[in-house]
Amino acid sequence: MDLSSLPREKWWGDEYLVHLEGFWFGPQRVKPIKRVINHYNPFPSDVILVTFPKTGTTWLKSLLYSILNRSSKHKLVAEHPHELIPFLELQVFAEADEPLVLAAPSNEPRLFATHIPYQLLTKTLESSDCKVVYLTRNPKDTLVSFWHFVNKWNKENPHQSWSLDEATDRFCRGVTPYGPYYDHVLGYKELSLKKPENVMFVTYEEIQEDPHGYVKKLGDFLGCPFGKEDEVDEIVKNCSIEVLSSLDVNKSEKSPTWFPSSPYNSFFRKGKIGDYKNYLSDESIQRIDTLTKDRFYSLGFMY
Ligand code: A3P
Repeated sequence: MDLSSLPREKWWGDEYLVHLEGFWFGPQRVKPIKRVINHYNPFPSDVILVTFPKTGTTWLKSLLYSILNRSSKHKLVAEHPHELIPFLELQVFAEADEPLVLAAPSNEPRLFATHIPYQLLTKTLESSDCKVVYLTRNPKDTLVSFWHFVNKWNKENPHQSWSLDEATDRFCRGVTPYGPYYDHVLGYKELSLKKPENVMFVTYEEIQEDPHGYVKKLGDFLGCPFGKEDEVDEIVKNCSIEVLSSLDVNKSEKSPTWFPSSPYNSFFRKGKIGDYKNYLSDESIQRIDTLTKDRFYSLGFMY
């Protein structure tokens, strides 16, 4: 594909995004995303975690890994959650059309993650009985988390910091990686209504409010229900931000090879609901709330 033929828009600093089939992506992501679309045929036993960036992907990776591999504590201590469940477009299909991991026959559920919108994966997901867990989060907290995350990339060049007003404007216009956020969420909401037995749609806030209940629900959904309540409590504790962020592997300043701009420790910040109130102006809050009402309320989906 000729990237120069795609519409492009400035994102932050000198970075720009390209527009492909209604969504914005970093130009380096286009090829791998195309590979996923063209070559990934999920096994019915596959489990795919789908998220918009900064909605709690790291947390859900640790939870899903632990739910499917009970007694996972030693693995969580040894590996960052992003190394336990690879992203399809960033890791699995980063370099090749048919990675080895996909060629191996397997009876075990394979766990993958992706940020690719449903609108681009419609065929892949509708033709398979794989399980999808879609996680979303309040748009204002997602935006603030994204803004903090991107500003950490500026360490070498602090004067290039990205203003929150600019980040808000991009977010509202949908010009963020994998954006528009609203279309991303609505796409998977639609899929979850179409295939409720295959797609579980959850929010960051619901899980924060009742982690024990949601770990059990996820276990039931994935076909591995819990017998013992203690086991559930153990997983909730081991995957809490307090425990995870205190592990050496997650405190590391090193960056993954597949995401060199972001050290492993940058995936953990506060992990709180409503942190946007400490950052966004009343005007920005109103702008986002109006958009949210417009896009989400008709579905009975509130934020
Ligand atoms: P904040 O920036 O609001 O703190 P992602 O994993 O999709 O990149 O999302 C990152 C967000 O999830 C960050 O939010 C981060 O702090 C939060 N997070 C990471 N691990 C978490 C955990 N175990 N529990 C709750 N939130 C977590």
